[in-house]
Amino acid sequence: MRVSVYRRAHFNAAHRLNNPNLSAAENVRLFGVCNNNNFHGHNYELEVKVTGEVNPDTGYVYDMKDLSDMIKVEIEDRFDHKNLNLDTEEFKNLNPTAEHIAYVIYQILRKKIGKEFDLSIRLWETPRNSVEYPA
Ligand code: NI
Repeated sequence: MRVSVYRRAHFNAAHRLNNPNLSAAENVRLFGVCNNNNFHGHNYELEVKVTGEVNPDTGYVYDMKDLSDMIKVEIEDRFDHKNLNLDTEEFKNLNPTAEHIAYVIYQILRKKIGKEFDLSIRLWETPRNSVEYPA
């Protein structure tokens, strides 16, 4: 029997969306207030979905303590209260859109979670805007 389990987490981070290949005016048109020169913050809500077979011995798909510890160490400690553009290697050369942040989180956690599990990332940048990877 395959079941999906979910773990929610939260981090605050600052970013600036900007494409250096485009003009300043074009960046403002594309990214609006998210292009603000001096950065701005978001309260990111993260949901990590792990899907797999229920282990007949434990009744669990995945140990939720292990999953929450992994998210704390790999994601929250890395991104919480950081300026994504300036403080993180991951976004030095990658525009920190919600799409890219979800993709980066997926790549980090994918290496830590066994291949027998499917993984999906949902990330809310605002209470009304969220992305999911893989689509
Ligand atoms: Ni923004």
